[in-house]
Amino acid sequence: MALSSVLLFSLLLYILQPTYGNIFSSLFSPQTATTSSRSLAGEWRLLSSSIGIVAMHMQLLPGNRLLTFDRTDFGLSNLTFTDCPYYFLDCTAHSLLFDISRNTVTPLPLQSDPWCSSAALLPNGSLLQTGGFNTGDRSVRLFSLSSLSWTEQPYSLAVRRWYASNQLMPDGTVIIVGGRRQFNFEFFPPEQQYQLFDLPFLQETNDPDAENNLYPFLHLLPDGSLFIFANTRSMLFDPLGRIASRSLPPIPGDVPRNYPSTGSSVLLPLRPEAPSRAEVLICGGAPRGAFQLALRNSTYLPAISTCGRIVPTDSDPQWSMEEMPLGRVMGDMVILPTGEILIINGAAAGTAGWELAQDPVLNPVLYKPDHPAGYRFELMNPSTIPRMYHSSAILDSFGRVLVGGSNPHVGYVFENVTYPTDLSLEAYLPPYLDASYEIMRPRRVRVGPPAEVGYGDMAFVRFAVDGGLQEGMAVEVVAIAPAFATHSVGMNQRMVVMTVMRLVQLSFRDYMAEVMAPPSPEVAPPGFYMWFVLHGGVPSQAVWHLKFIHRIISQL
Ligand SMILES: *[C@@H]1O[C@H](CO)[C@@H](O)[C@H](O)[C@H]1NC(C)=O
Ligand SMILES: *[C@@H]1O[C@H](CO)[C@@H](O)[C@H](O)[C@H]1NC(C)=O
Ligand SMILES: *[C@@H]1O[C@H](CO)[C@@H](O)[C@H](O)[C@H]1NC(C)=O
Ligand SMILES: *[C@@H]1O[C@H](CO)[C@@H](O)[C@H](O)[C@H]1NC(C)=O
Repeated sequence: MALSSVLLFSLLLYILQPTYGNIFSSLFSPQTATTSSRSLAGEWRLLSSSIGIVAMHMQLLPGNRLLTFDRTDFGLSNLTFTDCPYYFLDCTAHSLLFDISRNTVTPLPLQSDPWCSSAALLPNGSLLQTGGFNTGDRSVRLFSLSSLSWTEQPYSLAVRRWYASNQLMPDGTVIIVGGRRQFNFEFFPPEQQYQLFDLPFLQETNDPDAENNLYPFLHLLPDGSLFIFANTRSMLFDPLGRIASRSLPPIPGDVPRNYPSTGSSVLLPLRPEAPSRAEVLICGGAPRGAFQLALRNSTYLPAISTCGRIVPTDSDPQWSMEEMPLGRVMGDMVILPTGEILIINGAAAGTAGWELAQDPVLNPVLYKPDHPAGYRFELMNPSTIPRMYHSSAILDSFGRVLVGGSNPHVGYVFENVTYPTDLSLEAYLPPYLDASYEIMRPRRVRVGPPAEVGYGDMAFVRFAVDGGLQEGMAVEVVAIAPAFATHSVGMNQRMVVMTVMRLVQLSFRDYMAEVMAPPSPEVAPPGFYMWFVLHGGVPSQAVWHLKFIHRIISQL
């Protein structure tokens, strides 16, 4: 078939199919791994050739500003303060806000070093940002949405947290787990200052001379338990009792999945038809021994191409394994509004760490969780910029994936190296942003009143579709919690699908969907979500500023 007829055929299929996700399954045979075809889907846009720092840590804030920072001990950055804070010796910034609508940069003063830190967006919209290196390793930093500035509190954590992970809990507190040489966890805010709890699981999963359990993967499950994955093992943890409640089988293959054998992990979309079910997907990593070989012998082992999928809420959870079209270490996994997972960034050889990886993987891969096994991966259009150690990726409210960072060197090195420090920011546009879908795309989405939606309450979502709703095309409403992304971990990233109870046509192009909010804070912890409306799998832009609150509070 000629390319144009393939495209035409896919468009036809698209129109005939009720959901967008089905269109490619019949067109692509499983695991096609050709990398240079121009027919691969998705587009790349350069948003800025230099934002002035490495986008090592990224968080999209309500209000559509990207907060990003690298490390304060990197020396001079390429971003200079016009109005130099008196306490800044060199007048360059290592933290900034990027306005994703205007593509403008605002430098931010930040003093304590947040290198390899963790974070969670609090219910009030402040970013809780914890730990880091040296001057910052016990710091708690809050970034306020109202003042758009950092407040830094040194010595506020019980212990040093370098490479720890955070998860927002149903009560709005945050659990902070692990970090280098820390086999324990703590909460923010703590019940008592410096209160610390042991977690022997982190000691047991710590490989001598390689660790392979840093930045543990955390996912809050709908029953309130916490899924914790480190190295090859996982367990369920009872946050109320503060103890491990159940051990799960190890992921098959004996491949470590956590830093520096960095794979990535995602909680698949939670669906109202199975409210107590949750599924976790973990992809990529580096074989055991890869870190030592890269460090001591300059030998870069091929990255792992397997993914494991498990339903930890089952009575007898078992892993099912799948094969990606490409091996990948240091990939990021991003939940798209369609419920598909984009696997992006990373390398084909080596591990995380300074100068320890080679062969950037430029092609993103789309994973379709609802397709039959063997038909879930689709290779996407490649980028031209290597994004390896210290790169990151997150979903934005336009439905794009913001991609930035990459610096395998101790400082900023722009010349005479294979993989120079990269200060650019790109957007990857998944296939659903293609202009041919504009006629179907929901627009002018508004949620409410009320401004805050209670658990299990009805919410009213107005939207318009230029071409009108089309027969057989589903209307869906989903809420996505924005991730804090760093080192291939998307902390707190989750997508909750809501039930559309009723669909009302208000005028020729205008509609209102009555949707039922998630049932509990265990399914959707309180805070800010991006609400997307989808029509036949084509997503709108997201609206922010709606949080789920307890019904009791909403009645006060
Ligand atoms: C950053 O600044 C250095 C030193 O001024 C310069 O050589 C380099 O080209 C700049 N890099 C970018 C990406 O702007
Ligand atoms: C948000 O909540 C945190 C934690 O309770 C608090 O420290 C902070 O001051 C709050 N921020 C605002 C702007 O209210
Ligand atoms: C270490 O490097 C040497 C030289 O490049 C190579 O011959 C050898 O196979 C490597 N060792 C391992 C265990 O890969
Ligand atoms: C890179 O190499 C060239 C040629 O050897 C040299 O002139 C230049 O100074 C080097 N740049 C840096 C930053 O070391």
